[in-house]
Amino acid sequence: MVQATFSSEDWQRGYESLRTEQAYWIDDVEGQIPAELEGTLFRNGPGQLDVNGEKFGHPFDGDGMICAIAFQNSRAHFSNQFVKTPEFLAEKKAGKILYRGVFGTQKSGGWLSNIFDLKNKNVANTSVVYQGGKLLALWEAALPYGLDPKSLDTLGLETFGGKLNAGQVFTAHPRRDDRTGDLWGFGVQPGPKSTISIYKVNDRGELSTESQVKVSGFCFLHDFAYTPNYRIFMQNPVSFNPLPFVMGFSTAGECIELKPNAPSQFLIIDREGNLTTIETDPCFVFHHCNAYEEGDEIILDSVCYPDYPKLEPNTDFRNVDFNKVIAGQLYRFTINLKLGKVKRELILERSCEFPVVHPRCVGQKYRYAYIGAIAQSSGNAPLQAIAKINFETGKEEFHSFAPRGFISEPIFVPRDRHADNAEDDGWVLVLVFDATHNRSDLVVLDAQNISAKPIATLHLKHHVPYGLHGSFTHEVF
Ligand code: CO
Repeated sequence: MVQATFSSEDWQRGYESLRTEQAYWIDDVEGQIPAELEGTLFRNGPGQLDVNGEKFGHPFDGDGMICAIAFQNSRAHFSNQFVKTPEFLAEKKAGKILYRGVFGTQKSGGWLSNIFDLKNKNVANTSVVYQGGKLLALWEAALPYGLDPKSLDTLGLETFGGKLNAGQVFTAHPRRDDRTGDLWGFGVQPGPKSTISIYKVNDRGELSTESQVKVSGFCFLHDFAYTPNYRIFMQNPVSFNPLPFVMGFSTAGECIELKPNAPSQFLIIDREGNLTTIETDPCFVFHHCNAYEEGDEIILDSVCYPDYPKLEPNTDFRNVDFNKVIAGQLYRFTINLKLGKVKRELILERSCEFPVVHPRCVGQKYRYAYIGAIAQSSGNAPLQAIAKINFETGKEEFHSFAPRGFISEPIFVPRDRHADNAEDDGWVLVLVFDATHNRSDLVVLDAQNISAKPIATLHLKHHVPYGLHGSFTHEVF
C-alpha cells in the first residue's frame, strides 16, 4: 500500500462552508505578483455545503459562490459572493433544506417528503465565464445566472434575449474559439431519445443555435470538445432509472448506472448538424482536455474512468475512502472519421482531473496541458499537485502542495495574449487550500518551470471551499 500524502481531517476541512462575503486587497503576499499579469480570475464552486448545519449530501449540491481575484500593477484584489438564486434565498430564510439536490441531497423526512418532488435546485455552482460583457454562473441542468462582473451581484436567469426559455439548459463547459472570439456550448434535453443543441455565443453576447441533433438513449454529457469543424461528445453507456428518484428514495444522480460491458460512443457533430457515431471501449468521461483535427483524424485528450463513480445513497462524501475511489487517467483518443475506428493510449497514469490548455490552443494542435493530480505516483487521493504534460515528448512535471495543501482546477494565463509566444510562456494560477493555516492561497506558478518555487503566493484571509471550474479574462474588474 502506498504511503498516504495527506490526512483525512485536513482534507475534510476544505469542505467547510464559507459564510462571509468579502472584498479586500490581498496584502499578505510571498514573492512578487508579475507586473504583466493583468486581468480577473473568476472561480465558481459550492461555497455553502449546508443550510444552518443541515448538510448537503454531495458537494455538487452546494450553493454556487463566485470568487473574483483581479490583478493589476502587481497587486491583487479578492471578492466573493454567492449566486443569489431564489432557491438559495428561500433556504437561507427558512434555515433548512427545501429542495432536493441532483447528486446526493434529500429533504429531511425520508421518502415521504421527497416523493413526487421533481423540483431540483439550480445551484449555479459549476463554472463561471465572461463573454460579450456578460458574466455567467453556469450549471448544466438549467440556464446560466447573469452576474454583474464588477460587484458580482446576481442579475437573474440569462435567456440570451429570449433565445432560450426557462425550461432549457446551457452547459457548464463552453469552449471559446480564440480565433473568432465565439463561445461554443450545448444543451441536452434527455429522454428515450435525447436532443443535443449546439449553441454559439458571439463576442457581443448574442446566442444562436447551430444545430439540433437527436441521438438514441439517455445522455449524460457533462463536457464536450470543440474543433473548428466538429463538436465532439462521448456518450458514456449510462442508464437512468428514474423510478427511485420519482418515488423519493434516491436523488437523480444516484439513479445513473454504467451498463456493464456496453461500449462508449463518440458523437461527432459537424457544422451542418450531421451526426457520426463511432464506438469505443467502455469508459466514463467527465472532462475532455482538448481536441484538434489532423487529416481524416480527430485527436482528443480526455480524463477517463473505468466505471461511473457511482453515488451511494445516505453516505457522507466527507468520509470517503480514497483507496476505494476509482481513479481518472488522461488518455489520448485518435478517432479516424473515414475508417470509423478509434485508437486509445494512456498519457498520464497518475489519478488526475481538471485539464486545461492555453486559450489559443482550444481546438488547435497543441503541446502542453496542465492538470490537477494526486501527489503520489499510484493509488488514489485528493488532488494535491499540478502536472504539466508535454504531449510531444511525453515529459511530465509536477508541483506538489502535499502534505497539507489541496488544489483546485489550474488555469493557464498567457504572458502576452497578442504575441505568438511559446505555448507555455505564461503562468498557472491555482487556488490551494492550506490546512496548516486553515486558509486558501492563490498560487502563481511559472508555466515554463512549474516544479520551481511559486512566483507568488497570495494568502487569503480565509479558506475557499474546494471549487469546480473557473476562467480568466484580461479585463480588470
Ligand atoms: Co466539469
